[in-house]
Amino acid sequence: MTYVVTENCIKCKYTDCVEVCPVDCFHEGPNFLAIDPDECIDCSLCEPECPAEAIYSDDDLPPELEHFLGINEELAPKWPVITAQKEPLPDADQWCGRSGKLEHLLRDWDGEGAADDSAA
Ligand code: SF4
Ligand code: F3S
Repeated sequence: MTYVVTENCIKCKYTDCVEVCPVDCFHEGPNFLAIDPDECIDCSLCEPECPAEAIYSDDDLPPELEHFLGINEELAPKWPVITAQKEPLPDADQWCGRSGKLEHLLRDWDGEGAADDSAA
């Protein structure tokens, strides 16, 4: 079992979730976080912390979000660990709850600076 970050994190990245994780398994990309499924101990602490309600147990993933299990698995090893909360992305509140955000997911980032795909 693992917990999974899903679509509503994209372009929001509130990062409340990272503060409570006892095993530091959140990894930061340009506009999304991923949980490393090999590190997650299923403590469930992160789920209620997310203002965007983007975190699910893999057991409770709605069918339309099941592909995010593979997305977390793919991206967590590529991105640096994040353990401290930071400012959300600038337009987080405008993007929260919107559908079709997967097309805005940025995968390549070296962890330096903030990415901006607002023109996309
Ligand atoms: Fe971390 Fe626990 Fe959330 Fe897994 S369920 S990502 S261990 S806070
Ligand atoms: Fe994303 Fe929610 Fe964490 S928006 S960064 S999963 S608090």
